Parts: sequence; C-alpha cells; structure tokens
Amino acid sequence: MGSSFPIGIKINSADFQRGGFTEEESMEVVQLLDAEGIDLIEVSGGTYEQPAMTGTSFKKSTKEREVYFIDYVKKVRKLLEAPLMLTGGFRTVTTMERAISEGELDVVGMARPFTLYPDLPNRIFEGKLTRIEIPNPKTGIKIVDNSGFIDIKWHEVHIHRLGDGKIPNPKLSAYSGIGLNVSTILKKLLFGS
Ligand SMILES: Cc1cc2nc3c(=O)[nH]c(=O)nc-3n(C[C@H](O)[C@H](O)[C@H](O)COP(=O)(O)O)c2cc1C
Repeated sequence: MGSSFPIGIKINSADFQRGGFTEEESMEVVQLLDAEGIDLIEVSGGTYEQPAMTGTSFKKSTKEREVYFIDYVKKVRKLLEAPLMLTGGFRTVTTMERAISEGELDVVGMARPFTLYPDLPNRIFEGKLTRIEIPNPKTGIKIVDNSGFIDIKWHEVHIHRLGDGKIPNPKLSAYSGIGLNVSTILKKLLFGS
C-alpha cells in the first residue's frame, strides 16, 4: 500500500471461548503489529461504559467480561506506540472525553450509534448531543433477545435504511431484524445472491 496509506486493525481483547484467542495472545499480536509500524489499533470485545452505569439487569458473566475488557485496555495501552482506538459501549460524551484526557486511549470508536445518528460527530462537536440513547428492541422471546442477534440485525436494518436514503427510525420493531434475515435467506435460495 505504501507508507502514505494508513492501515489499522480491529482486534478483540479475547474471544471468551474455551481454548480460543486469549488475552495473552491478543497482546502478543498487537505488539507484533505495533513493531511493524501499524497506524492504528482498534480494540473491541467489551463495553466501555457499562460497569460504571452498572445495571443490575446485566448478567454476572457480562459484567465480568466488561471489567476484563477495561483491564485489558489499560494493560495494552502501556505496550503500544501506535494510536489506540476503543470501540464498544461509548454512549456519553463525558466518558469519551475522560477516556481521552486521562490518556486511556487516543480515538473513541463507535458503531451502533452511527446507524441512528449518521451525523454523530457533528452533533457531538456542536454540543447538541451529550448522551446517546439507543433503543434495545425486544421480541419478548427470551432466548432470541439474549442472543444479541436481534440487536445486530436491528442495526443492520438501519444500515439498509440509510443506504436507501431513508431516515433512521428508533421505533422500528425488533421483528424488522428477523424480517431482514428471512428476506436475505430467501433471496439467496431463490436468486443465489
Ligand atoms: C450491524 C453490525 C455489524 C457489525 N459487524 C462487525 C464486523 O463485521 N466486524 C467487527 O469486528 N465488528 C462488527 N460489529 C461490531 C461493532 O464494530 C462494534 O465493535 C460493536 O457494535 C460495539 O461497539 P458499539 O457499542 O459502539 O456498537 C458489528 C456491529 C453491528 C451493530
């Protein structure tokens, strides 16, 4: 690509699977990439703000994973020369500013907020948005709602809406995500694409 082309990587702190990608391995990989002169390392795999907000509704395992993620970030920060970006759960401008000013990271990453606020950075820099509210649509079917599948699909529906020139609709039902998935499967079966 040449030295004028910036290259970054998004990497998980761990994959939380037995026998899977561990924290040690993740740290080893980022250090190797850093030594190669990578331009940006984006860490994901947890939720930055949730332990602070501490919802009792969160499962113990989820809370432990989030805390683990933040610990990983603090450790990896000390090992790197490359700018560090973190993605996962940033929802308040105060936390974003604190994370940057305290030197925990260099770049704040966000994903889901952009599907509802495509002009998010402008709104933040103009002081029009201090807390990002993202709906958590539910089907009412516990096993489906707990899987995280609906959440991803719901945001995917919004990405399609934006692609079609439509405006985001926070009131869209959880079932819209299932609808998108069914139509994708049908298209593949009928048209092979
Ligand atoms: C629709 C959708 C698709 C995603 N696809 C990917 C992906 O292909 N690769 C990846 O590393 N993360 C993917 N993610 C995860 C996000 O990049 C991000 O790490 C995660 O949503 C947490 O950040 P957030 O709390 O700001 O949304 C996806 C998320 C959503 C909602």
